[in-house]
Amino acid sequence: MKFFIDTADIKEIQELAASGLLDGVTTNPSLVAKSGAANFIELITEICKIIPGPVSAEVAAMDYETMLKEAERLAKIASNVTVKLPLTYDGLRVCKIMSNQKIMTNVTLCFSANQALLAAKAGATFVSPFIGRLDDTGADGLQLIADIVQIYRNYPELDTQVLAASIRHPVHMLECAKIGADVATMPPSVLKQLFHHPLTDKGLAGFMADWQKSGQTIL
Ligand code: G3P
Repeated sequence: MKFFIDTADIKEIQELAASGLLDGVTTNPSLVAKSGAANFIELITEICKIIPGPVSAEVAAMDYETMLKEAERLAKIASNVTVKLPLTYDGLRVCKIMSNQKIMTNVTLCFSANQALLAAKAGATFVSPFIGRLDDTGADGLQLIADIVQIYRNYPELDTQVLAASIRHPVHMLECAKIGADVATMPPSVLKQLFHHPLTDKGLAGFMADWQKSGQTIL
């Protein structure tokens, strides 16, 4: 399972990249706005240098012609840029063109299995179903992940990877891993939560106290 982080904050990306556990980064227009970065292209260029894996950069246009131009511009930033496109008719048209050119794509704002099927038909590298936002409406976001994984498995010729997005807490992560999502993109706070368990802290405190008493050293 690949671990991506969902942020455009350079400091957070640098900090978590040092763990050696990150496979990629996803950004979106809201995260870019939150980062306060002055220049979007420069921001993505910098992230692509920090993380060698896929870095999702989202188009901002809604219409086909402008979206295509934006996608082509973003694709030129670096070989690991993944052009993020909305799951709309025009977004999938651009996705198909990018896919034909072997440019990585991430089709975002996916809220149904039929939409995910369309993204796969358009040759998307990744499809991003939004778990948390579906949960917020009273629907079951994890069930959507399970449905898409099952559907893609039925058709081995579809090689789109399921990128579970809008992950809000560690249980979302756990369930995505059990279902078999290819990738999960998490806010940095959720990734940090995965490291912690109170019994690890308690056990470590006990070991350290006993070690002090023993007078032993390693170095
Ligand atoms: O980047 C897409 C997605 O992960 C957004 O998550 O928490 O804004 O619903 P959220």
